[in-house]
Amino acid sequence: MDKFVIYGGIPLKGEVCISGAKNAAVAVLLGTILSDGVCRIENIPNISDVSTSIRVLYELGAEVRMINQTTIEINPAHIRSHIASYEMTKKMRASCYLMGALLGRFGKARVAPAGGCNFGVRPIDQHIKGFEALGAQVTIEGGMVELEASQLIGAPVYMDIVTVGATINTILAAVKAKGLTVIENAAKEPHIVDLANFLNSMGADIRGAGTDVIKIHGVASLKGTTYSIIPDQIEAGTFMVAAAATGGDVLVRNVIPKHLESITAKLVEAGAEIEEFDEAIRIRSNGKFNRCNIKTMPHPGFPTDMQPQMVTLLSVAEGTSIVSEGVWDNRFRYVDQLTKMGARIQVDGKVAVIEGVPSLNAAPVQALDLRAGAAMVIAGLMTNGVTEVEDIEHIDRGYEDLAGKLRGLGANITRVSIPAGGVVRAIS
Ligand code: EPU
Repeated sequence: MDKFVIYGGIPLKGEVCISGAKNAAVAVLLGTILSDGVCRIENIPNISDVSTSIRVLYELGAEVRMINQTTIEINPAHIRSHIASYEMTKKMRASCYLMGALLGRFGKARVAPAGGCNFGVRPIDQHIKGFEALGAQVTIEGGMVELEASQLIGAPVYMDIVTVGATINTILAAVKAKGLTVIENAAKEPHIVDLANFLNSMGADIRGAGTDVIKIHGVASLKGTTYSIIPDQIEAGTFMVAAAATGGDVLVRNVIPKHLESITAKLVEAGAEIEEFDEAIRIRSNGKFNRCNIKTMPHPGFPTDMQPQMVTLLSVAEGTSIVSEGVWDNRFRYVDQLTKMGARIQVDGKVAVIEGVPSLNAAPVQALDLRAGAAMVIAGLMTNGVTEVEDIEHIDRGYEDLAGKLRGLGANITRVSIPAGGVVRAIS
């Protein structure tokens, strides 16, 4: 029940270091289930989706050893269970990777539906299509997805839509299947490439990750490895938008600029100045923005996970911007929170029409999901008043010490703990 209290109006200035990527880390951590040896994973972000993944591995029987804050060793040798209960899966969308990983390891899996952010219906038909193509029988019984295959056999899989989750699950199930699997119309996100690189470092034979055709020659076994997770594209993008939105000047370090191109392009169009270095990006702005239109799309298009942050910035741009959501059915729920702060935004289905206002006003708001929560923090930093953001456990799922990193850039943001029925306490 913690909240952020933000005294806005301060341009962010200085340097911030980006942590490991959430969406790569959760896939890699659950992918260790397929290994026969010890996996040492480096550059792990300190976020609650990672803690959830580690807890799930531990409960399944893996030995887990924290080497330091960003490095973990996982020995999956003692995992005996192929069952993941709702208690294990309810907190995180990526728990659905347990289907592919347990099926790949045991030839069977029994997995409860995954939780995660609420953007409307989150179907798994394409995941099931991938498993069935490899020869698994899939049934849904008593609220659990049951998967079983006497032998997984490589096969062509054509994804009807571009989906990150189904691409990852099919890779996990196919990596030790007999023969060749070809995934067509595969998702191309950086975390898919990272997962493939991780599995290849254990001896897998996956080619084409990062393109829309991924070829997987099944191998008999996977050995232990040491692997470092890529930097988080969306955390980096969030700091870039925060820097621009506050009229700041920030060097965002430990990034892969190539992964940020679509975000950089839109920020430049909106009027920010951007300088790229090998592993850093500097962003400067005078706090005045041009209108622009955005359509979110699978990678390399503009990421849906940056949509709420950009809508927040465009809410003070000169003129009218149109933002279309091309990935999720219901990802504008947070707009009501922004309108409480004075934004003028009309939503019609998957399209938001944003009429720029001169400034946002402070107001109490809620973090309705992870990225919407980050957008509320940015909105709070943009006002000249005191904004309280509630329900920030959503933000903890994917941002490592967001308040601490923002304070490092000069922001006045405090995390306040509200124990049930207890005394309010500032904790950082
Ligand atoms: N879809 C189907 N059928 C399926 C699977 C997906 O119709 O079987 C649809 C979805 O309903 C959606 C679209 O396909 O409309 C894309 O879904 P996708 O499978 O790509 O999303 P995901 O794997 O569930 C991951 C990220 C999300 C991110 C999306 C899109 C992880 C753990 N989650 O979700 O990240 O929004 O890809 O890029 O990787 C976040 O980090 O805040 C977050 C929500």
